[in-house]
Amino acid sequence: MTAPGFEIVFSGRPIPVLPGQTIGAALHAAGIRSWRTTRINGRPRGLFCGIGVCFDCLLTVNGEPNVRACLTTAHPGDEVTPS
Ligand code: FES
Repeated sequence: MTAPGFEIVFSGRPIPVLPGQTIGAALHAAGIRSWRTTRINGRPRGLFCGIGVCFDCLLTVNGEPNVRACLTTAHPGDEVTPS
């Protein structure tokens, strides 16, 4: 028996999510390792610390910018884009 899942949308792409999973974990499980770049050198950033300290994982969720993906639980239909 498998847990019922749902989807969020990342930049137009449907991403499967398990209940209780963070947005960061769902993106990582889908093979998405980075979703923003640094301002100065354009280096890729995604999950780094995974505990809400580094702010490398910022993205926009349902229009709210600067949300930490590693701390934010996904909800059905969330629209996620790079910040
Ligand atoms: S990965 Fe460090 S704050 Fe989210």
